Amino acid sequence: MTDFHYYTPSEIAFGKSSEDKLPSLLDKYGAHKVLVHYGGGSAERSGLLPKLRTMLRDNAIPFVELGGVVPNPQLSLVYKGIDLCRKEAVDFILAVGGGSVIDSSKAIGYGLAYGGDVWDFFDAKAVPEKAVPVGVVLTIPASGSEMSDSTVITNDALGLKRGCNSDVCRPKFAIMNPERTFTLPAYQTACGVTDILMHTMERYFSKTHMDITDAIAEGLLRTVMDAGPKVLENPSDYELRATIMWAGSLSHNGLTGCGGVSDFGTHRLEHELSTMYGVAHDAGLAALWCFWAQYVKDEDPERFGQFSRNVLGGREPVSAMRDFFHSIGMPASIPELIGRKATADEIEQMAMRCSRGGNFRVGKFKELGKKEMLDIYNLANQ
Ligand code: NZQ
Ligand code: ZN
Repeated sequence: MTDFHYYTPSEIAFGKSSEDKLPSLLDKYGAHKVLVHYGGGSAERSGLLPKLRTMLRDNAIPFVELGGVVPNPQLSLVYKGIDLCRKEAVDFILAVGGGSVIDSSKAIGYGLAYGGDVWDFFDAKAVPEKAVPVGVVLTIPASGSEMSDSTVITNDALGLKRGCNSDVCRPKFAIMNPERTFTLPAYQTACGVTDILMHTMERYFSKTHMDITDAIAEGLLRTVMDAGPKVLENPSDYELRATIMWAGSLSHNGLTGCGGVSDFGTHRLEHELSTMYGVAHDAGLAALWCFWAQYVKDEDPERFGQFSRNVLGGREPVSAMRDFFHSIGMPASIPELIGRKATADEIEQMAMRCSRGGNFRVGKFKELGKKEMLDIYNLANQ
């Protein structure tokens, strides 16, 4: 096993009555004026935002609002949020939504606490030392951003999607009511299931391990692969929604990676797909994973054997995962993702960006430079 440092400070309020804890949690974490940040309208339509506004007013907690976060959240809205918060003297950001809203909130929090351009953190020109705190009311289990140290932002002016990792952005709290996920369309539910699986699989494919972490990871993967198809049949099943929601947080808060070395190569390759084609992150992961696995499996055949035995009931991993993705309506190749083959020029551009001009390698299970990235994109483009 590899030495590790496990830090998961986000406080979790989980269940049907969890939203009622919002005022006390804001008070506990010192909020005097709140930015309520949200996406394109689902939280308005479900009645969640109206309920939260009423709670804030009833408890005399001042707030301003900024909606309009899009999937793969954009830097231009982050700048707008920073300006608004400075003008309004906001000292706490409440993200109401999924990974895109949470990451936009985290980036606003970074920017507010920094004198320079917040993109510096995503461009590796500066390292964040502090951030204005963020709290979350989660509406889609997928990204795990509600407990993670990660923030992923798209620079819409430059066409670049970049991540920044730091403990200072970890949310102070997350409120998770599984009933709020009943309204998720089947496609978004399947996207979430995919990202949850991938966050554990990106950690599981490691050359060092710990038995306890393997057992947690394998149990999580089996449980989510069982619950995912069932919840698509029964979208209002509270127990299934709750299982998936909690799995989403556990999958990306570090728990399933203790003692190993996280790979995250598929994530890096995927970020170029969602930037190039505007597709959902999770669907992009499903389009790539089987080809990544095919390409790297000789690095450690025993690890793939263990995955097969303990997660897939003995089935061969590449075909079993392809069948699983198809069974929940996810694509399992680039043509299935975008409805056509990627052009040679697009693949070259994605490999150039992912490798930062050929100078940057991704992945740990097998390190991938520009040549290997091209190989995997081309395999996935058949
Ligand atoms: O915008 P609204 O109208 O709210 O609709 C959203 C959005 O269109 C909808 N939705 C959310 N909750 C809903 C709902 N629709 C009906 N009922 C509900 N209860 O779902 C759509 C997708 O939302 P989004 O937040 O984009 O999804 P997700 O949580 O998958 O986040 C994706 C983003 O997270 C990043 C991805 O790269 C992508 O930008 N990631 C962030 C990570 C992190 N910070 O730790 C890790 C991940 O690997 C990932 O990279
Ligand atoms: Zn992800």
